[in-house]
Amino acid sequence: MTEADRTSAAAPNEVLAAIRSRRVVRSMSDRPVARADLETILDAGRWAPSAGNRHLQRFVATDHPGTLRVLRMLSPGMIARPAAAIVICTDGALAVDFGFRPDVPGPWIDVGTAAATLMLAAHAIGVGAGPVTSFSKAAVATALGLPDGLQPDLIVCLGYPAPGGPGPMRRGRRVTWQDLTTFVP
Ligand SMILES: Cc1cc2nc3c(=O)[nH]c(=O)nc-3n(C[C@H](O)[C@H](O)[C@H](O)COP(=O)(O)O)c2cc1C
Repeated sequence: MTEADRTSAAAPNEVLAAIRSRRVVRSMSDRPVARADLETILDAGRWAPSAGNRHLQRFVATDHPGTLRVLRMLSPGMIARPAAAIVICTDGALAVDFGFRPDVPGPWIDVGTAAATLMLAAHAIGVGAGPVTSFSKAAVATALGLPDGLQPDLIVCLGYPAPGGPGPMRRGRRVTWQDLTTFVP
């Protein structure tokens, strides 16, 4: 496959543009997130790469104002007032069934690939998204009535972007790829 073939097959320019322009959104309008948009984002989640292709993550989605209020109360890191949220949970029992030892990083890394995929999909359709990991897992599990063994690991806040509100967490020079990369022979 030539470089040109690869370019046309995967439309990398659009993908790269989306990757580069996605920013965490912390100012969200109270307009409800259309169910079709929520489903598009959730559908993208199943395409996230996962260790051994095991799909140990489960997505618990809500656009219920009361549930969102409770999630905010339990999540000091939730600066946004989201109109919807997807809680990425890991099924620990399934991980054990598949032979993952508790200390292996795969299932945990999968939380990140799922979050990145959900946020990029949201961005692609004009829905703002932001991740939150600063929350009480036990309290969120209880509030959502999660079954034993399903652990909430990351909350993706969702809502249509609104003007104003909190900006980026750390301003300054954007890190370059050279800052992050070392070529080795
Ligand atoms: C694992 C993880 C946890 C995060 N937790 C929070 C959080 O609790 N609250 C928040 O506002 N942002 C959170 N963020 C978002 C980061 O602050 C954000 O990605 C970073 O500042 C860069 O901004 P950008 O994604 O808009 O470029 C988290 C990001 C990651 C990857």
